[in-house]
Amino acid sequence: MKYHSIEEIIKNNQAWVSQKLAEDSTYFDKLATGQKPPYLYIGCSDSRLALTRFTGTEPGELFVHRNIANQVSLTDINFLAILEYAISYLEVKDIIVAGHYGCGGIKAALLGITIGLVDNWVNPIREIYLQNQDKIDALPTQEEKLNRLAELNVQMQVKNLYQTSIMRQALGQQKAPTVHGWVVDIQTGLIKDLQVSTKQWQLPSFSGLVL
Ligand code: CO
Repeated sequence: MKYHSIEEIIKNNQAWVSQKLAEDSTYFDKLATGQKPPYLYIGCSDSRLALTRFTGTEPGELFVHRNIANQVSLTDINFLAILEYAISYLEVKDIIVAGHYGCGGIKAALLGITIGLVDNWVNPIREIYLQNQDKIDALPTQEEKLNRLAELNVQMQVKNLYQTSIMRQALGQQKAPTVHGWVVDIQTGLIKDLQVSTKQWQLPSFSGLVL
């Protein structure tokens, strides 16, 4: 793969700005007025997953949180701040948790070929594997095992989402966004909706302090 140089990237940016202005001279004036995105997208940091391109969405449509292997971590202050802001202030209508096949984080968790801190970060995925070991091990190829683990990981992150106080509070106030679990198949470029059922993970609504 040939990569663009920094100079090319800056030139591309200028060309894109000119093209956008030719289509609509007020494009950036409108963009500058603020954001009210309808979607929160939680995805993997993988460089191949430029979801804006994959979905034909425009700047201003997706509020984004990305990390290795699209984890919804209840101890990640960065993620929690984004979730709270997205639900309470932006009032997003939908939350998309998107994993992908061919994910290095999933591979690292299953095959144990990580180095450094990534090894700690992907440990929750190892837990998912251990909980589903029989079903995953029964699959014939390594690719299928990794793909299945990527899907189970999305399901688990959706479940984690429902365990945040932010989501539980939103559910109690009937303001919770709809949650979708997706897997992006990099080999085809297509998005697969896993139709994750979220009903069973909706805990009794959060109605104030009970300490
Ligand atoms: Co990945």
